[in-house]
Order: sequence, then C-alpha cells, then structure tokens
Amino acid sequence: MNSLTDTYSLSNGLEIPVLGYGTWQVTDPNEAVEGVKAAVKAGYRHIDTAQMYKNEEFVGKGIKECGVPREDLFVTSKLNNTNHGYEATKREVAISLEKLGLDYLDLFLIHWPVVKNNGGDWKKDNRETWRALEELYDEGKLKAIGISNFAVPHITNIMETARIKPMVNQIRLHPGVLQKDTVELSRKHDIVVEAWSPLSPMKHLNEDEEVQKMSEAYGKSIAQILLRWSLQHGFVPLTKSVHEERIQKNAEIFDFELKKEHMNYLDSLTFEDLDKPEDFVER
Ligand SMILES: NC(=O)c1ccc[n+]([C@@H]2O[C@H](COP(=O)([O-])OP(=O)(O)OC[C@H]3O[C@@H](n4cnc5c(N)ncnc54)[C@H](OP(=O)(O)O)[C@@H]3O)[C@@H](O)[C@H]2O)c1
Repeated sequence: MNSLTDTYSLSNGLEIPVLGYGTWQVTDPNEAVEGVKAAVKAGYRHIDTAQMYKNEEFVGKGIKECGVPREDLFVTSKLNNTNHGYEATKREVAISLEKLGLDYLDLFLIHWPVVKNNGGDWKKDNRETWRALEELYDEGKLKAIGISNFAVPHITNIMETARIKPMVNQIRLHPGVLQKDTVELSRKHDIVVEAWSPLSPMKHLNEDEEVQKMSEAYGKSIAQILLRWSLQHGFVPLTKSVHEERIQKNAEIFDFELKKEHMNYLDSLTFEDLDKPEDFVER
C-alpha cells in the first residue's frame, strides 16, 4: 500500500481502492457535489453513498462533474432497511442507478441485515434480498455485491444459500471497536472488510498523551493516525469530510508506518461511550 490508488482484489477480481470517501450526513446538495469533486481532485477514486443518506443525486452530480472518467471510479451504494426483499431490492437498485445517473455500480451492499428481533423470518428475509443482488450481479448492473453491518450469525446465514459469496463487509471499525470475530469470519470467506466511522475516537484521543506523542513523532494528525491504523489492519477505511483541506490531509497516510507498539496501543483502547456493534446482533 503505497498510494491512494492502490487496490485490493475482491474475490471476483474487481479492484477496490484501499481508501474511500464517505458521504454519510452530507445532505446539503452543494456540499455533496463539491465534496465528491474535492475528493476526486485529492486523488480518491472510491466513493461511498447509500439510499439512506438521501444524497445519491448529488453524489452522482459530483461524479459527473469531477473530470475523471466513470470507469476510473469505484462507486458504492447500499440498500435501505425499508427496501429489503427480493422484489423491492430489484426495484430499488434500479432507482439508485437512476438517481446516481449511472449504468452500473461497482459495489452494492445490504446496508443492515434484518436481525432477530425484527419479527418475521430474519434468515429468509436476508437470503431473499441476497438472491436479488446475485441476479443483478449476473446482469452486470452491480460489478460486486456485499453486506454491511453483518455480524457472525448474519454472515453464516447468508453463506448457507449464497450462490455468489459477498465480496465486501462494511462494518464499524476503529480503536475501541475491533469486531474480531466478524473480521475473522469475513476474511475466512475471502470478504474484504471496509471500516466505517474510522475517526470516531478522535475526541477521546485528543486527550490521550500516548497518542499525542505519536502524533508528534510521526508528524501526523490524530485523524491520519487513525486512518493509517485502519489501513495497517488491512481494512478499507471510508472517511468523510466536507472540508477540502481535511479531505486532502486525510489521504496523506501513505508516507509513514505505525510501529507495532503503536498499533498494539491503539488496539488496546476502549471507550465506554461508543456504540458496540456486537450489541446490534440481537436488535
Ligand atoms: N455501513 C454503515 O452502516 C455506515 C455507517 C456510518 C458510515 N458509513 C460510511 O462510512 C463513511 C465514514 O464514516 P463517517 O462519516 O462517520 O466518517 P469519519 O471519517 O469517521 O468521520 C467524519 C467526521 O469527522 C470529521 N472529520 C473528518 N476529517 C477530519 C479531520 N481531519 N480532523 C477533524 N475532523 C475531521 C468530519 O467533519 P467535517 O465534515 O466537518 O470535516 C465528520 O464530522 C461514511 O461517510 C459512510 O460513507 C457507513
């Protein structure tokens, strides 16, 4: 991993850039368009949106105006929780493509699994949604398909009937939230692991003397250290900012390497007030 355009190969051979630009909570149309353009200008080639973010049109406009050919970009969207099921998935992927103004998506994810306490047959519901994605993949509308926020029981369930394995699992990962079992099972199935909200612990780390020392020693901000930590774990971090300078700086993480002792220190941190995704499993 030497640059922003380096990639991992997904299990179907598709190349995914190792750092992505996220667009969660970017609902202002201008910020969404300009954010995507600034990210592409800074060298990002991987853009992450979702039906839930209500910004696919604006992200699509940013993609159209960014000056880089479509085929050089890796664009992800995700199925909203209200759109699960075979028929709805087919319909809603078409709507996402239309909103984005694209003929295909590089990656499409089930944003959240149907979980146990949802009522109904959560296992069947997830499998039916997956079956629709497999067909859309066969048709070439989705170059890769995957899951998000799937913990061990959800992955295991999908695998029992999947004709095509998920290629990506996008989950919350940063110091304090390691989800080791989910990462291990994903990797066992050749699923690339993406990390959302990699900067969440920043407010705690601003107070942490060890991390302050690291920041000085490497000449890097705490945000850059967190993103580098994620890369060195082999995750694909997704990071969001609506400020051009931060977008640029967040990508300057390929010219240093965290020492083992620093990785271990970051791995050891815990934060009481952060959600623990493990708790979502039974929701
Ligand atoms: N699959 C899922 O369920 C799921 C859930 C959450 C997120 N995601 C995806 O993952 C992406 C990343 O997660 P996230 O949006 O939580 O991003 P993040 O990069 O962890 O954090 C973004 C926040 O940090 C601020 N920030 C960014 N760079 C900074 C810097 N250098 N210094 C100080 N503050 C900085 C941003 O503010 P400014 O914008 O004001 O700079 C924003 O408030 C999302 O955008 C979305 O695409 C997926």
